[in-house]
Amino acid sequence: MKESFERKYRMLLGDEYELFLESLFKPLRDAIRVNTLKVTNVDALLRRLEAKGWRLEQVPWYPHGFWVSETGGRIGATVEHCLGYYYVQDAASMIPPVVLDPKPGEVILDMCAAPGSKTTQMAQMMENKGVIIANDPKTKRIAALGSNIQRCGVMNCVITQMDGRAFGKLGPVFDKVLVDAPCTCTGTIMRSPEILATWGPYTARSLSRLQKQLLRAASRCVKKEGIIVYSVCSLEPEEGEFVVDYAVRKLGLEVEEVNVEGLKARHGLSEWMGRRFASGVENSLRVYPHDNWTEGFFVAKLVKA
Ligand SMILES: C[S@@+](CC[C@H](N)C(=O)[O-])C[C@H]1O[C@@H](n2cnc3c(N)ncnc32)[C@H](O)[C@@H]1O
Repeated sequence: MKESFERKYRMLLGDEYELFLESLFKPLRDAIRVNTLKVTNVDALLRRLEAKGWRLEQVPWYPHGFWVSETGGRIGATVEHCLGYYYVQDAASMIPPVVLDPKPGEVILDMCAAPGSKTTQMAQMMENKGVIIANDPKTKRIAALGSNIQRCGVMNCVITQMDGRAFGKLGPVFDKVLVDAPCTCTGTIMRSPEILATWGPYTARSLSRLQKQLLRAASRCVKKEGIIVYSVCSLEPEEGEFVVDYAVRKLGLEVEEVNVEGLKARHGLSEWMGRRFASGVENSLRVYPHDNWTEGFFVAKLVKA
């Protein structure tokens, strides 16, 4: 553990630092999202998986999300997975689409979409009606996005391969935009401990610039009164509150308070290292790994006035 990491996270978490630290070394529970685009009888699928010896537990904040234990094998290596009956997705990663709440018939941009966990979840929430533009600039990741979209029977999605910042030139065409931005991933250290090795006190700052630019593009291509959800699997204030603060001060977006039923989450910080954030930034959600035994996430719901 780097000393600078420990110092920063002790400052962020206070008395809860030890709990947080423990969560970084505790293996995560696997989770699946049952894909209702392919599965009409969810109970029958659950019984079929239980018959393999799986133990399933409902994720409280998403009706088709389930934690899986005692599988005796890899949960991505089943016929049911190949057929697209379920998607392997951490329970915290199901939160941003729940907050965006895409509806059938809407026009949605998923600006940083690959490998498609949230695109396929949104298609499911939209019952395959309306349109999702699923974008990612990386060729390898686009391949995974395409195959997940096909496997899950998503029919309302167009894939684009662009720098997300280019969407700013389109004008206000989308009802809602998801910006699930590239980040330092400090919320997923328990899955990928190498993140700790690459983490440095300034890594988040350099990504913060790109995250702000992606949000600026989102604020331009979303319609008036449209919604943008900004999310990162990071707990760094530079990638969370600082970016949302920019969205409020410079882009004129408002941060709406959200309540995700069944989820334990904290308010966003109102200040960090002597910097007071704009009013509303505290309406963001901070989800620590030890809150729900999931990955850590930061989520904000922004509205274009
Ligand atoms: C956190 S991942 C997205 C995960 C995805 N939303 C999901 O749920 O499966 C961030 C993604 O942003 C993409 N990305 C990186 N730079 C980008 C840019 N300039 N514009 C848009 N996307 C970018 C990365 O290729 C990566 O796939």
